[in-house]
Amino acid sequence: MRVDSAAPRGRPLRMLSIVGARPNFMKVAPIARELQRHAGAFDNTIVHTGQHYDSKLSDVFFDELDIPRPDVNLNVGSGSHAQQTAAVMSAFEPIVLERAPDLVLVVGDVNSTLACALVATKCRVAVAHVEAGLRSRDRAMPEEINRVLTDQISDLLFTTERSASENLRAEGIDAEKIFFVGNVMIDTLLYHRDRAREMQSAQRFGVCPGEYALLTLHRPSNVDDPAVFARLMEAIGRIASDTVVLFPVHPRTRGTVERSSTAARLVEAGRLRLFEPLGYLEFLGLMESARVVLTDSGGIQEETTILGVPCLTLRTTTERPATVTFGTNQVVGTDPGAIADGYRRALTSTARAVPELWDGGAAKRVVDVLLNLPTRTA
Ligand code: UD1
Repeated sequence: MRVDSAAPRGRPLRMLSIVGARPNFMKVAPIARELQRHAGAFDNTIVHTGQHYDSKLSDVFFDELDIPRPDVNLNVGSGSHAQQTAAVMSAFEPIVLERAPDLVLVVGDVNSTLACALVATKCRVAVAHVEAGLRSRDRAMPEEINRVLTDQISDLLFTTERSASENLRAEGIDAEKIFFVGNVMIDTLLYHRDRAREMQSAQRFGVCPGEYALLTLHRPSNVDDPAVFARLMEAIGRIASDTVVLFPVHPRTRGTVERSSTAARLVEAGRLRLFEPLGYLEFLGLMESARVVLTDSGGIQEETTILGVPCLTLRTTTERPATVTFGTNQVVGTDPGAIADGYRRALTSTARAVPELWDGGAAKRVVDVLLNLPTRTA
């Protein structure tokens, strides 16, 4: 599919923008806002696959991020990878056939991203992938499979860092399809930073700014295997002897936490504090005034880089090398000794540089590309 053959003359570009899971919402929000500013040029429909359905993983973001409510909800819910991917595909195909979009826009690397891209391309509809080209080179991560395959079938590939553009070119993707635009997730962070500060999250959680660590864990490799999780809790125990640890618990992690005797002991001692998943603004506020953030998330590595807060990534790889090269991120793995060493280094680290184009203007650059598709300017 050549995207220029899909671009219409004389009517708005008909788009479906896909959201499915928590990290998608903050990526689509600034793009939807920018498309809205050019309402005559775009007819954008937001489709929620329903991969995430808990109010704390989904609704709260629509409320906080000024995203229009989804026009379509496929309500697919949870399941195995095959079930979930297949459910999204089966539910999305009739929407594509009925709405006949010119372009399907997908973001990130979740199952919904790949499922919708696959449906669109088989229906001969052009696909735009925002956050293309990131590679951990770890094919045991479901997200890596989703990234590689989505990029192979995308017609427009928008990248957040130069290394991602290089990865795409090395995989044989035509350079004309690749656009280095910066980071839409950072657009959202900068847009909401002041509101997040006004919430005074640290005080609301009963901790002093700079005197707590913030922890998130949800990768299957970290939370599905009790032995790995036990090692992580041992590391958290060492850090918790120095600073209290706040831990908003993702639903997939809940059972493992409840079965962990180390976690129970730390909670009992008041050194580890567990919470339900948090809203965007209160979490952003907590990140900004944390002494250190420990995480296995991708997006949080990027957000802490911009906030200048030290980040320890509890994985052996990162698909976001700019957060290490320029930012505050250390990839420390899951060994308790290595995590404790990383923590000590983090306490003395100083703020680093901002990666190129992580400046709040990424969504505008995405939309500029869409406005200038060949047949639109012809
Ligand atoms: C998904 C993404 C991951 C992303 C993460 C952010 C994939 C392969 N993974 O992982 O890249 O970082 O979202 O959160 O797409 N659950 C609920 N309520 C919900 C959704 C899920 O309780 O609203 C529970 C269910 O038990 C479910 C489990 O969480 O089985 C996992 O959900 P799923 O969407 O499969 O993956 P995540 O781990 O959330």
